[in-house]
Amino acid sequence: MSDADVQSKRTQRRLLRARRALLPGPQRRRASRALACRAGRLRWFHRARRIACYLAQDGEIDCGPLIALIRRRRRICYLPVLVTWPRGALRFAAFPVHCVLRPNRLGVPEPRVPRSRLLVPARLDLIFSPLVGFDADGRRLGMGGGFYDRALGVAARRSRYVRPVAVGLAYEIQRLERIVDDPWDVPLAAVVTEQSVYDPSRPAVPA
Ligand SMILES: Nc1ncnc2c1ncn2[C@@H]1O[C@H](COP(=O)(O)OP(=O)(O)OP(=O)(O)O)[C@@H](O)[C@H]1O
Ligand SMILES: [Mg+2]
Repeated sequence: MSDADVQSKRTQRRLLRARRALLPGPQRRRASRALACRAGRLRWFHRARRIACYLAQDGEIDCGPLIALIRRRRRICYLPVLVTWPRGALRFAAFPVHCVLRPNRLGVPEPRVPRSRLLVPARLDLIFSPLVGFDADGRRLGMGGGFYDRALGVAARRSRYVRPVAVGLAYEIQRLERIVDDPWDVPLAAVVTEQSVYDPSRPAVPA
């Protein structure tokens, strides 16, 4: 199947998840280190104080080295937390070194903190989001829950310099020529892979 034949979110998700699942361990570890270096050089990173990452699921690129970098640079690292109200919303909890985690209803570990300590997305400066697929124009395909679209909803009406800036993290093999999108899909300001930074507002960075 060529990229041009992949025409629905469902088929794009299936193709890209299968591709991602095949990556060998050593390549994954090298990629996540390279990703951290590139992400740490982003102009948004330099200006940010509160930065959200995620704990990798389903073969997503690992943020471990990036989380370590965020802490070394004295930024505050956050993780997404699912809340029951508003339905399908994401909030963010600080993720210090000795943070206690517990699995949420989808089985994803998240910090165990009282509701009063959770931040709404607008309080963050930079949100690194996981994804299943992306294209060079910043279109994002996720796992299908719409969580990041809802979290970044306001972002659709703001400029790329108003917080929170959303940047996708991915393996190079997750890129397609064009990702199928819907009216509610919120574009990313940029996507960082182990090889490149895709920033629709700037010319491509060579590998
Ligand atoms: N801003 C929104 N408000 C309400 N519902 C939304 C919003 N954004 C997305 N959704 C709902 O979420 C569902 C899944 O959306 P989509 O297929 O774009 O998920 P995704 O971007 O792949 O997932 P995720 O962001 O969780 O990784 C859609 O059926 C849509 O109705
Ligand atoms: Mg979406």
